[in-house]
Amino acid sequence: MKTLEYLLLGSAAAFPAGAMAAELNLICSADVVICEKLVSEFETSHPEIDVNMVRLSSGEAYAKVRAEARNPQTDLWWGGTGDPHLQAAHDGLSTQYKSPMLDELQDWARGQAETSDYHTVGVYSGALGWGFNTEIFADKGIEAPQCWADLLDPALKGEIQIADPNSSGTAYTTLATLVQIMGEDEAFDYLKKMHANVSQYTKSGSAPVKAAARGETGLGIVFQHDAVAQAVEGFPIEVGSPCEGTGYEIGSMSLIDGAQNEEEAKIFYDWVLTPEVQNMMPDAGSYQIPSNAAATPPKEAPDLTALKLIDYDFAQYGSAERRKELLARWDEEVGSLPLQ
Ligand code: F6P
Repeated sequence: MKTLEYLLLGSAAAFPAGAMAAELNLICSADVVICEKLVSEFETSHPEIDVNMVRLSSGEAYAKVRAEARNPQTDLWWGGTGDPHLQAAHDGLSTQYKSPMLDELQDWARGQAETSDYHTVGVYSGALGWGFNTEIFADKGIEAPQCWADLLDPALKGEIQIADPNSSGTAYTTLATLVQIMGEDEAFDYLKKMHANVSQYTKSGSAPVKAAARGETGLGIVFQHDAVAQAVEGFPIEVGSPCEGTGYEIGSMSLIDGAQNEEEAKIFYDWVLTPEVQNMMPDAGSYQIPSNAAATPPKEAPDLTALKLIDYDFAQYGSAERRKELLARWDEEVGSLPLQ
């Protein structure tokens, strides 16, 4: 990202009179620290391209791309959960791109591309769970939860935070996971009961465990890698993985249909799928499993093969109809309930 001063002075020196710096308008839907690192590394290796980045949660990013459909201001959308990327693909908001990097990717990342007819691709993966503050739990004598069912314990009243599934891909993944594990009506009953323990529905998916790390709440329902990040920072956070099984994300990337800077977007697209770039993620506190098969999964990352993962139906829960239907029902039955 260039400062205004750079644009006024630096760019004049760097580019001959009349020449325009190439641009890339990027939405980044992962943690802001990795978003900023990717931008600065890319600008260092591609000084001819100036990146304008905005960090938005997955559902917000989808809404922005949708609102811009007739006059796209975004070229590339990197990161965030796969479901809204699949919805964008279905809605014709993203365009087909077969990166030369596809052959280097893990099956699940290529599978995401195939499901969307190459309108989106997997960039990382991670499982859902929670992080809880061990000091708060010890002080209040609350037992460490092992299962989704344990989150209904009245001892957790006011101690749980989770994001709003309209803005957050993490929270939508939770909603879709519970529906797949329990059945839809039972999942909504569960969420209505759990609401009694919820103090806040945040905008961003990782905010609940950041709040738990700071001692503002006991437990945040988040991707496990976001809980790991707080533990690695030294906060008293323990990571939980539900006994009934859990869902996971295929964090994705989409090239926007009608992008004004399509060539620059493709350069970033191919670059960010390389093992060298994916190996930088832990340096920015991001512990997802990378999609390039030659990249090294962070040693701190939860081992997905050791977890009880459900067979998450990405095609169904990323479809426009299903996502809209579940979000509308959540608004009506859960989001509308008063917070205690
Ligand atoms: O913080 C990183 C992360 O959990 C990603 O793995 C994920 O794709 C994204 O955040 C989801 O964020 P949100 O729930 O705010 O859409």
